[in-house]
Amino acid sequence: MSHHSTDGHASRRFVLLGCGGFIGSHLLDALLSDQTNFVEGFDLDPRKIQPHLSNRRFRFHCASIHDVHAGGDLQNAIEAADIVINLAAICNPSEYNKRPLDVMRHNCLYMIPALELCARLKKWIVHFSTSEVYGRTISSYLKGGDYSDTNLFEQDEDKTPLIMGPIHNQRWSYASAKQLAERYIFALHKEEALPFTIVRPFNFFGPRMDYIPGQDGEGVPRVLACFMQALLDGTPMRLVDGGVARRTITSIHDAIDALELMIERPANAQNQIFNIGSPENEVSISELAILMREIAAEVRGDDTIRQHPIEHISSLEFYGPGYEDCDRRVPNISKANELLGWAPKRSLDETLRETIEYYYEHYGCRQLHAAE
Ligand code: UGA
Repeated sequence: MSHHSTDGHASRRFVLLGCGGFIGSHLLDALLSDQTNFVEGFDLDPRKIQPHLSNRRFRFHCASIHDVHAGGDLQNAIEAADIVINLAAICNPSEYNKRPLDVMRHNCLYMIPALELCARLKKWIVHFSTSEVYGRTISSYLKGGDYSDTNLFEQDEDKTPLIMGPIHNQRWSYASAKQLAERYIFALHKEEALPFTIVRPFNFFGPRMDYIPGQDGEGVPRVLACFMQALLDGTPMRLVDGGVARRTITSIHDAIDALELMIERPANAQNQIFNIGSPENEVSISELAILMREIAAEVRGDDTIRQHPIEHISSLEFYGPGYEDCDRRVPNISKANELLGWAPKRSLDETLRETIEYYYEHYGCRQLHAAE
């Protein structure tokens, strides 16, 4: 619980569920840089947070978030906490249609006991949902895909309908599970006075995102790591279904700024859903591939990378049956701006550059090593 440190300002105790992931690792950097904070983190994988494991203001539990039982570490940690932040998730689209039961269990069902506990104890939960809860845009269902009216595709936290495809397209197992978790939290707020904040991230990019298959993970990661693997290995970048889907890319640093503002302004942040995204940084996936090639060429000082091969592949071949794509994600961020004073500052170019530099530094140029 809060108490006052010697310099007079309140120290806070955080529980971070999923502290070892991409977002969690950056949030941990930010929280621990404030000497008055104490963090209890839960994750199954500490590789991205090695530098913090010896910090006295951080306690790491190599444990899953559904292990809530009386006297257990998670229950004790939540009881002692001021703020519980939930980042635990299976959030990789290549899994949604391949193991939908795990996806629905981990993104919703296994979380219920921890959510219930927060409600019982009236602990503020900051829950990371996803921009994917919006599903597809209204525009995408109109003849020819009419994007002329922003009202038909721009995504507003409290107005836009959440539109998902048919059940046999199991891609939507993730968005449905995330949506149910949001509805559950909202109902716990209404009926049992749970203080909550729901965050909907719009494609956060930055160092430590995902993994390179065969090196520090398996399977198919998200698009950034897929394209980076292609650049590192000298294999073609692959555009799924023409690369026409559009995303708005958000710097992890802008995202963490938003989180810090929420933590500083509980009265404004509580009981709200926030889009956190950079509407200015919109690209189609084919534009992203070309831009990444160009920035990689500059980062490496190697003009030949500008001609790195780009191939087309169907979603059926790439993801298997049951895949369906979100056509476009453009957040309306006026709520975060008005209530938190937040606006994203990092451009698409600088966000990609920082991330690409990190990938080359961290994973090396395996193509060159292979040739040696
Ligand atoms: C993902 C996840 O659903 C969520 O984890 C998360 O909320 C969201 O990203 C996010 O980062 O905020 P999505 O953007 O569809 O959703 O994930 P990606 O795997 O990065 O795919 C983006 C687009 O690139 C899709 O159109 C996909 O088909 C395409 N893609 C992916 C390619 O064209 N080539 C590839 O090699 C990989």
